[in-house]
Amino acid sequence: MKRIVVYYSLSGNTEAAAKKIAEKLGADLLKVDTEKPMPKSFAAQIIVGGGQVMMNHIPKLKPLEKDPAEYDEIILGSPIWNSKGVPAINAFLQDEKAAAKVKSLFFLSGGGDTKKGLEAITKKLPNLKHSVSLLDKKHKDSKDNDAKIEKFLSEISE
Ligand SMILES: Cc1cc2nc3c(=O)[nH]c(=O)nc-3n(C[C@H](O)[C@H](O)[C@H](O)COP(=O)(O)O)c2cc1C
Repeated sequence: MKRIVVYYSLSGNTEAAAKKIAEKLGADLLKVDTEKPMPKSFAAQIIVGGGQVMMNHIPKLKPLEKDPAEYDEIILGSPIWNSKGVPAINAFLQDEKAAAKVKSLFFLSGGGDTKKGLEAITKKLPNLKHSVSLLDKKHKDSKDNDAKIEKFLSEISE
């Protein structure tokens, strides 16, 4: 079983979780990123990123450094933006063959309310079985992330 963790991360939280998950599973790692960079300031990110989510904008991605077609299973990581998934991940999921390989999903959010995001992304992931909601390192309960990741990993490995 050849697995890859595919993720997007603007400020490092999803990346930290992606690295842990990939290491523990012995999976490869692939970061997706947009050709056009996001603004540096959080306020501008909220305006630009929030606007993109509202408009269902599908950005152009930088060329992928690994080919999802070479893997049996994808573990997908995404931050929550405006209660939904992020445009870069929506762009990645336009590859329906790759979307069909996603069995597990981890979300990073500032507040932990991932219901709408999960609903939105589930429509694009016909084979999704496991998901976990992790918290931004600024949240007081982010100390529970490691235990949640362990549970998620044991579900994936069943
Ligand atoms: C444009 C934007 C919109 C966001 N919207 C939400 C939101 O609706 N709900 C929430 O809980 N967190 C929201 N956040 C916070 C991120 O989900 C959170 O900081 C996450 O840890 C970021 O992951 P990253 O460091 O991998 O980029 C938003 C962040 C950005 C930049």
